[in-house]
Amino acid sequence: MASSEIPVPTVVNPWTKQSLLELITTRMQDVKFIVVSNREPYIHKRAGGQIRCVQPASGLASALDPVMRACGGTWVAHGSGDADREVTGRSGRIKVPLESPSYTLRRVWLTKEQEQEYYYGLANEGLWPLCHVAFHRPHFIQKTWDAYRQVNQLFADVVLEEAAGDPAFVFIQDYHFGLLPRMLKNHAPNLYVAQFWHIPWPNRETFRAFPWKEELLDGMLGNDLLGFHLRYHCANFLDTVDRNVEARIEHEHSEVTHGGKTTMVRPFPISIDFEWHESMARSPEMDNMMEFWRKEIGAVPECLGIGIDRVDYTKGIPERLQALDMFFENHPEYRGRVGFAQVGVPSRTQISDYRQLNDDIESQTARLNEKWGRGDWVPIHLFRGEYSRTQLTALHRLADFCMVSPLHDGMNLVAKEFVASRFDDHGVLILSSFAGSARELTDALLVNPFSIDEMADAVFRAVSMPTAEATRRMQRLRAATAENNIYRWAGKILLALLKIESSAPEPEPVPNWEWEGVSVPF
Ligand code: G6P
Repeated sequence: MASSEIPVPTVVNPWTKQSLLELITTRMQDVKFIVVSNREPYIHKRAGGQIRCVQPASGLASALDPVMRACGGTWVAHGSGDADREVTGRSGRIKVPLESPSYTLRRVWLTKEQEQEYYYGLANEGLWPLCHVAFHRPHFIQKTWDAYRQVNQLFADVVLEEAAGDPAFVFIQDYHFGLLPRMLKNHAPNLYVAQFWHIPWPNRETFRAFPWKEELLDGMLGNDLLGFHLRYHCANFLDTVDRNVEARIEHEHSEVTHGGKTTMVRPFPISIDFEWHESMARSPEMDNMMEFWRKEIGAVPECLGIGIDRVDYTKGIPERLQALDMFFENHPEYRGRVGFAQVGVPSRTQISDYRQLNDDIESQTARLNEKWGRGDWVPIHLFRGEYSRTQLTALHRLADFCMVSPLHDGMNLVAKEFVASRFDDHGVLILSSFAGSARELTDALLVNPFSIDEMADAVFRAVSMPTAEATRRMQRLRAATAENNIYRWAGKILLALLKIESSAPEPEPVPNWEWEGVSVPF
């Protein structure tokens, strides 16, 4: 059947903020809810003599904030803003969001050296490239591992202080805290501990390069529940454990028993608050914001493509620019008619490779504009800086196509945000098959980001796609995103934790509706 003939599925009973709230009020009244992540959801920064509160460009932070607003509880995170201490009480606690306080942010203070070694060093120069397998060499240095251990212990102390001996659900985020689950369980077996690993888990051959394998895996097996985006990452993790640790693995139930303790390992594809994004896209302030972009872009081309990314080598920005170069080469009829706006949010700029990447993207853009630009037509507009969610939503609305082409990504929420903003059913999504979101967003134009030819061809398909086909594709993308929303992600994780809490004798069979039969090259 041609893709345009496949009917648009109707959304049946999606999880909502309300249903998540009901789950929490009926089933979780007597337990505290504590979330842990490195990146805080609100950062206080000094700018021009004033203190501004900003939300970071982090998929993790933007996905979890609506969940915390619904659940309440405490979010423990590194206080990284230069004005964080000024606005936070001696206890390190502050109620957020400021306009309608719904939960407590407990800030943890790190020294510059700890931040350098644990965050930039082990987490982002070691585990980040190791897990993404984007042909970027990881660095493993003993003193960064020591700092990682030390900071994990610091967070363990704070979580134990927040739990204060009461039963609590502790929900740990990401690769910054591989040792924390075990540290918590050793001190407080009455805690229910879950961890979500927001980045891919590599195959066991790749993981062989990590020098502290057993300690990290033992730390992660302190969890009651361990989640990845994809079934494929769960399988890689089980395989890695099998190779490196003394453990019993039950593949059928996706469980590991190690040192007498069982960890459930499950896929939970993360998402966004679809309705919130859609209503933002429909809000009256969009007109002004779209005007803002029209001015920034100058002469808006007949057909506008966009890319929105943190400037990170996993995001495939240089490859995307090469593909646009090839597209203009192959299709002279589109010169002067198609333009591309790339937002690059600066990220981890203390790491020299990230600084270098910023420079490379800038000079590549200049070369391309020099090569193809003519009259008032500028082929590539590069916007480096931080933009509000309202501004980014307005850019989604202006676009005719959006390119999300990471070389490897756990999920990638930009793709889902673009789709949620397009209530007009307009716009084509070009999506890397190596982003986790490609498993759900199968009506995008799926591309191999390592193949410049394939991406150039996808740009051509996007700009020449008949309106009826683009509309049908967008309708189906929207239905998939509306159904698999962030409340479903959180609800499924909480249900799995509640099952552990009530010690149900029969473990739930691994759900296989999402990723059956899909293979990826890593
Ligand atoms: C990825 C990670 C998150 C992280 C985000 C932004 O999505 O999984 O943990 O917050 O990148 O990176 P940053 O280092 O700025 O927090």
